[in-house]
Amino acid sequence: MLAPLAGFTDLAFRTVCAQLGAEYSVTEMISAKAVMMNNRKTLGLAKTAALPTAIQLFGAEEDAIAYASEFFSQGGLSTGEVVAIDLNMGCPMHKIVSNGEGSALLKDLKKAEKVIGAAVKASKLPVTVKIRAGWDKNSINAEEAARVAEAAGAVAITLHARTKEQLYSGYADHSITERVVKAVNIPVIGNGDIKSAEDVKKLADMGCAAFMIGRGAVGDPWIFARIAAALEGREFTEPTVAERVSLALKHLNMAVEDKGEHVAVPEARKHLAAYVSGFPGAAAVRAEINSLTSAADIANLLERTASEAR
Ligand SMILES: Cc1cc2nc3c(=O)[nH]c(=O)nc-3n(C[C@H](O)[C@H](O)[C@H](O)COP(=O)(O)O)c2cc1C
Repeated sequence: MLAPLAGFTDLAFRTVCAQLGAEYSVTEMISAKAVMMNNRKTLGLAKTAALPTAIQLFGAEEDAIAYASEFFSQGGLSTGEVVAIDLNMGCPMHKIVSNGEGSALLKDLKKAEKVIGAAVKASKLPVTVKIRAGWDKNSINAEEAARVAEAAGAVAITLHARTKEQLYSGYADHSITERVVKAVNIPVIGNGDIKSAEDVKKLADMGCAAFMIGRGAVGDPWIFARIAAALEGREFTEPTVAERVSLALKHLNMAVEDKGEHVAVPEARKHLAAYVSGFPGAAAVRAEINSLTSAADIANLLERTASEAR
């Protein structure tokens, strides 16, 4: 599965990952309150492609969560395959937790139970919950949070096995994943630092039902196909520079089609920078990408880079 990454997992990136073997994706987090206020930009984040996709909501107000869950579970504005509503109980950002949203719900499981219950009641689709290990190392409570989610009607849990305080640094502690798998009867989706088939095998041995990859897919959406090939004992041929450039441009073009050049080009820069990582002269190419505003100029630059690398 492709993990939700705010600012990254838009329609274009989710489509690219689906074409390279991701079997499920989650939108970036969407404010339930903004959905209730009919904010068009927010609604645009929920566009889906053919890949089975969960719409991820954040919020701590039951009425907003119920409204947004019902809205998206009935299709919302999307044309693709929405299969679940996912609730964010892991976001560590100050502006989110200061509203009692995201990982702040791990500190208030009574509230979390009500929020999940509201989504389950309102949604026509299954509800899943994404949590972290706990607030900090002295308050690891993922097992309890997962049990609360299960009791409130969630059908699966994703655990990012880091605390809120860790943000994205340090390592995910998958001994906590193992404990969460044992604590509940619903499937647990392992997440955090998955880069290889070995990482997946370790989580599978712990009983995880599925595996969610976030940062490892940025600039390298081949990670899904590479891991699947290794697990199935098949050869995997790494993409050439030309293939990487070609996919980067396809990705950019999809984003332009979706959002228009003006929005898509600045947003796509971080993806493009990741695609060229490891290329000869990558730092200079990245700097140049950041100075370009037209998709055609970026295409020229990348094609030139690819032909120089041959
Ligand atoms: C830039 C960025 C944005 C993220 N946005 C979200 C989000 O919107 N919702 C969410 O549940 N998790 C979000 N996450 C967390 C990831 O889904 C994932 O749990 C975390 O990155 C660990 O997985 P990884 O090591 O495979 O990246 C974000 C992470 C990053 C780095």
